Amino acid sequence: MKTILCLLLFGFLFGDTLLQTPVAKNGPDARTNRLLFLSNIAENLLHQHWDDVELPCLQKTLDIMRNVQNHTVWATWVWDSMQSPTGWFVGSRNHLGNFDQCIHPPWVETHPELLTQYCVANIALTGERISLKEDPYTTTDLYVSSRKKNNLAFNKFTWGVCLPAICKPNSIKKIAATFLNNTHLGSTLSEATIYIDSCQTYNENTELSYGYYLTL
Ligand SMILES: *[C@@H]1O[C@H](CO)[C@@H](O)[C@H](O)[C@H]1NC(C)=O
Ligand SMILES: *[C@@H]1O[C@H](CO)[C@@H](O)[C@H](O)[C@H]1NC(C)=O
Repeated sequence: MKTILCLLLFGFLFGDTLLQTPVAKNGPDARTNRLLFLSNIAENLLHQHWDDVELPCLQKTLDIMRNVQNHTVWATWVWDSMQSPTGWFVGSRNHLGNFDQCIHPPWVETHPELLTQYCVANIALTGERISLKEDPYTTTDLYVSSRKKNNLAFNKFTWGVCLPAICKPNSIKKIAATFLNNTHLGSTLSEATIYIDSCQTYNENTELSYGYYLTL
């Protein structure tokens, strides 16, 4: 009886906590990691060379990072519209994210200071392409630089980025490089060349596609 009472009391006191354990357990660490991840990107950005004319773009990009860190909607909205390259190892070449979400947030008419642009970046890996047997224990760099049997080319892909409207292609290139550097493909892409293909912001004439957007 005592045991049951104890259990009931325990359940009453800690039931909620126990239910939340999986999240709570990872909570502080996951949060710390996330903050580190975001401030690492900010730090990488600050380490690059910026001309004076580029500083407003840098500032606005850092604002996005800081406001993602504290979960502010407008910034998390921007961040959520981009995707990490996915399926690249099996030949996916387009990692476009969400065009409409990027250029048309609900506050597009009311908060011009938050205006963003959607840019298509073409990423080309330089570096030698060598033939290599499939070896799961090799490094990713070697893997992607090898020519595959079915001739899947890893040396190119298209990536959609969502950045402050004020940024010019030259700055966008640097920001894209830093963002990519901080994905799981990081060092693999350190030798990549980035071209900014086209950028678009919202205006009354922008045709929104709602799920369908042809970039090429
Ligand atoms: C989030 O951080 C930014 C920049 O540090 C700050 O301006 C903003 O007020 C913060 N937002 C919230 C909801 O705390
Ligand atoms: C990529 O990451 C490395 C290691 O953190 C850093 O030294 C380098 O400056 C980064 N490059 C870019 C373009 O952000």
